[in-house]
Amino acid sequence: MNKQETKKRIEKLRHVINHHRYLYHLLDRQEISDAALDSLKHELKLLEDQFPEFITPDSPTQRVGGAALDKFQKVRHATPMLSLEDVFSEEEFRDWQTRIQKLIPDVRHPEIFGERKFDGLAVSLTYENGIFTRGATRGDGMVGEDITQNLKTIESIPLSLEARDMPAALKKKMPDLEKRVQNGVFEVRGEAIITKRAFEKINKEQIAKGERPYANPRNLAAGSLRQLDPKIAASRALAFFAYDVVTDVGQTFHSEEHDILRILGFRSDPSARVLSTVEDVMAYRAETERERNALMYHIDGIVAQVNDNNLFSGLGVVGKAPRGAVAFKFPPQEAVTRVRAIQAQVGRTGVLTPVAHLEPVNIGGVTISRATLHNMDEIKRLGVKIGDTVIVGRAGDVIPDIRAALKDLRTGKEKSFRMSKRCPVCGGEIAHPAGEVAYRCVNKKCPALKREGLYHFVSRKAFDIEGLGPKTINALLDQSLIQDAADLFDLKEGDLAPLERFGEKSAANVVGAIRIRKEISLSRFLYALGILHVGEETAQTLAKQAVAKLKVKSAKCKIKEIISIFEKMSLDDLQQIEDIGPKVAQSIYSWFHDKHNREFLQKLDRRGILASMPESRIRYQELSGKTFVFTGELKTMSRDEAKEKARALGADVSESVSKKTSYVVAGEKPGSKYDKARELGVPVLTEDNFLSLLT
Ligand code: IVH
Repeated sequence: MNKQETKKRIEKLRHVINHHRYLYHLLDRQEISDAALDSLKHELKLLEDQFPEFITPDSPTQRVGGAALDKFQKVRHATPMLSLEDVFSEEEFRDWQTRIQKLIPDVRHPEIFGERKFDGLAVSLTYENGIFTRGATRGDGMVGEDITQNLKTIESIPLSLEARDMPAALKKKMPDLEKRVQNGVFEVRGEAIITKRAFEKINKEQIAKGERPYANPRNLAAGSLRQLDPKIAASRALAFFAYDVVTDVGQTFHSEEHDILRILGFRSDPSARVLSTVEDVMAYRAETERERNALMYHIDGIVAQVNDNNLFSGLGVVGKAPRGAVAFKFPPQEAVTRVRAIQAQVGRTGVLTPVAHLEPVNIGGVTISRATLHNMDEIKRLGVKIGDTVIVGRAGDVIPDIRAALKDLRTGKEKSFRMSKRCPVCGGEIAHPAGEVAYRCVNKKCPALKREGLYHFVSRKAFDIEGLGPKTINALLDQSLIQDAADLFDLKEGDLAPLERFGEKSAANVVGAIRIRKEISLSRFLYALGILHVGEETAQTLAKQAVAKLKVKSAKCKIKEIISIFEKMSLDDLQQIEDIGPKVAQSIYSWFHDKHNREFLQKLDRRGILASMPESRIRYQELSGKTFVFTGELKTMSRDEAKEKARALGADVSESVSKKTSYVVAGEKPGSKYDKARELGVPVLTEDNFLSLLT
């Protein structure tokens, strides 16, 4: 390639990479693999290294690579970055409406715009002539810090702006939007956030290292963006949701700002919309709260604001908050209570987890009486003692935990917790190897291990045996009806029927539920074994490996064959597998070479258990290459959950219907997407049809 050709190639590469970034980070669509994208980026980097004069500030290579700074520069905001007043109840929300109504008596029931309130860090992004040049934190509202380098690492932030798919009405109102954005300064504000998954992963790592977990996603996002070395921000899986266009480009409504943001390639809340009555606001808030758990990131309420920008600014500011907007927060997910006792609980891997037994307290409608303290380092970090008054928190489905001990409320009678030298269940020895945080019961026959292992075996992500919860497992163990999980497959109705809470019918149901699980996906099977460090994802990886090694390719195989595959794998073979490190490899190797475990597997084999090939392999082929569009309200799940499920099976999800759409899934009250599907002849599925694809 000569220089001119190289320049062209660089431009094309940049365009293609940016296009896939946009698809992936803004539309949640992946058209090429990560590996293919990486290799395009690599080629671009090589060419730019050869001809540095062709590097542009918005090149994808410019996202990372900046050197660490000594300190952040201060930035004065063009207009102050305000905060919001909080309201917590319908009454408080109505009070706010009454207050503003008095100030604008001529406008009856001003339109309200509702959107999710993200739990992250407010940032301002400045574009000059369409190129991202500066990003800043809020700071004290007047002066923030220049964190441009770190913000550039966030892939959902466009490095340059272009207008995409402008609807006709907006084009008419703002014919020169793109020109205005491309010439001069353009400022956008929004929230930098971290995904729940990344938050949990980083906190687990913190705890494993014996370091302080981050108290909330906001702190972690802030902590990541306030690192002087941009490599740290780059490793943190941050995202950006835009919610404000500061620059006047002809918008007169806040709703138009959201349209502008989407057109210019920003991610903005997909649920955001205009609301009219208080009832609408309440319904939107309730809907948002229902969807909350299924979202990939944390939100802590909704933001409601006057949609008409003139009215909004006319209402002015009190203190640091605009009168025209409020944060309508969800009920707090924290409460204060007392620690009655701390007891070590033995988990299925033998690890002793200190658990605080609490005076029961209600958090968001659920009574909590236990909270995990994770490990001894966490107890030390919190400084918590038995008898202390503590702050307990719960987030969604996550196990409640202790966030802080209120030491000023101590009476002097509080007692420190000490980990016992012997297992509280079997009295056996406890190991606490140097350099490890965990204390572990080393007795392989400890009844607690067996019990917890059984709970795990039947749990939702493992064998998923309906009607067989911890209470029934306890009863079965206590009556010596089972010794291990393999015995479950021998149970007869008559064994279960006499147990407490059972009758003939429920006994028959459970026996049926066990029978249908005699055939189970290999990844679930491997996960159910409860091998130390083997979570769902590792189990899937292992299943794929095992399939590759199977001599006869069939849809199902006997446990005997699985045993032989894993028995033959050396430690080195295991370590060669992507995503499996030395610690995990060692654990898998030891598990399959343990005499008791082998006997257990042989027992399962004799019960006729069959493993079906990885779900992803079969299913992926079924749904990959298919594009789904969802419209209307679903009965059994939120739309976000449905999208997640479709994606998990390899499908693409799109927001708009075109000839390329494979299926439109229509819930109740479907919108215009339904009509479009009919018009284009795209197949429309009911919710039930969709569910049947998933099972
Ligand atoms: S509008 C006047 N919209 O909440 C301030 N803020 O408690 C304009 N936040 O500092 C804010 N999601 O960091 C707005 N959709 C959203 C938001 C949002 C999160 C944050 C923002 C602000 C804080 C105020």
